[in-house]
Amino acid sequence: MKRRTSFQNRSQQKWKSRLLFMLLLCLCVGSFILLLESNPPTMNLPILFAQKPKIAFLFIARNRLPLDFVWDVFFQADNNNRFTVFVHSRPGFLFSKATTKSPYFLNRQVNGSVQIDWGEASMIQAERILLQKALVDHTNERFVFLSDSCIPLYNFSYTYDYIMSTPTSFVDSFADTKEGRYNPKMHPVVPVNNWRKGSQWVVLNRKHAETVVKDETVFPVFQQHCKRKSLPEFWRDQPFPVDTSKEHNCIPDEHYIQTLLAQEGLEKEITRRSLTHTAWDLSVSKDNERRGWHPVTYKFSDATSQLIHSIKEIDNIFYETENRREWCSSKGKPSPCFLFARKFTRPAASRILNLSVLGT
Ligand SMILES: *[C@@H]1O[C@H](CO)[C@@H](O)[C@H](O)[C@H]1NC(C)=O
Ligand SMILES: *[C@@H]1O[C@H](CO)[C@@H](O)[C@H](O)[C@H]1NC(C)=O
Ligand SMILES: *[C@@H]1O[C@H](CO)[C@@H](O)[C@H](O)[C@H]1NC(C)=O
Repeated sequence: MKRRTSFQNRSQQKWKSRLLFMLLLCLCVGSFILLLESNPPTMNLPILFAQKPKIAFLFIARNRLPLDFVWDVFFQADNNNRFTVFVHSRPGFLFSKATTKSPYFLNRQVNGSVQIDWGEASMIQAERILLQKALVDHTNERFVFLSDSCIPLYNFSYTYDYIMSTPTSFVDSFADTKEGRYNPKMHPVVPVNNWRKGSQWVVLNRKHAETVVKDETVFPVFQQHCKRKSLPEFWRDQPFPVDTSKEHNCIPDEHYIQTLLAQEGLEKEITRRSLTHTAWDLSVSKDNERRGWHPVTYKFSDATSQLIHSIKEIDNIFYETENRREWCSSKGKPSPCFLFARKFTRPAASRILNLSVLGT
């Protein structure tokens, strides 16, 4: 009797442990399959558990994003979960199914947005808010600033490889020698030899994004002493001397990141060009005060494949004030300079998308 019981017990135990083993095996295989499904099968085991680096696309919009349909096609081409989207829009405006048809922009609006007065310190405040939110996700390794009139020029894969293969930030930056833009009151916190200018549309790596968010020195000086001259909203100053007025005309978003990186001694870590193409036009007005360079907005009739090809063909940029020519390269090879372009109206962007010249 005793022996039989012990035999029964033993076989019962054996059966139990077998069941447990099978269960564990199922769990393991199951989770492995799940992992494989969310990762390309070409990856080897250690990489399966590492997260893919992502690019954070940071949109600065007035209200809605009129070109969301172009970005929708662009993002759809990525099936590897290699990007995140953040949008800064004016307080009170809500991205919903009523204001965007693209799911990529739903629930992507940053909280605590500020009212942007174009060319005021509130613009760089918006940039700092976007970076701060995007940095929370540790897989975000590059931070791309985009406006509501920007379009991508290439497909997602090309854009991703181009940006990720360069460890530096892309920041268009040059010593700004034009009189009237540097306010001597910034001295000594921001000395004139650290004063830089460039495009607002930069691409930052994680280290530089953190530098911007942590900055408590340069930002307050900009808030106080970098003010735009009272001119129409679209008005933009350029490195070419046009203005003779003594009034300070400082545009925070065209000086802040450049000057901060110079101040922090990080200029050796940047590629000194912007990835966003802007065409500049000298507006001729009877009113001399309003003469100046401003960005061209492409309309439906301008939106041809020749236009896109001519932007894609640019492989070098000449900086007149520094007599410096930047030859563009990616992965050690000559390459197009620009991945994005502005400014496009909605009909223009729609026409370009239909021409299938964006490679998306
Ligand atoms: C903003 O806050 C709401 C509610 O607190 C949250 O659901 C949403 O995800 C937040 N948005 C972002 C982009 O963090
Ligand atoms: C993406 O664009 C690049 C450059 O234009 C092209 O070589 C590549 O074939 C495109 N990839 C896809 C998947 O369309
Ligand atoms: C582009 O194509 C779509 C779909 O065929 C069409 O609805 C739209 O009107 C076209 N846009 C332009 C500007 O040609």
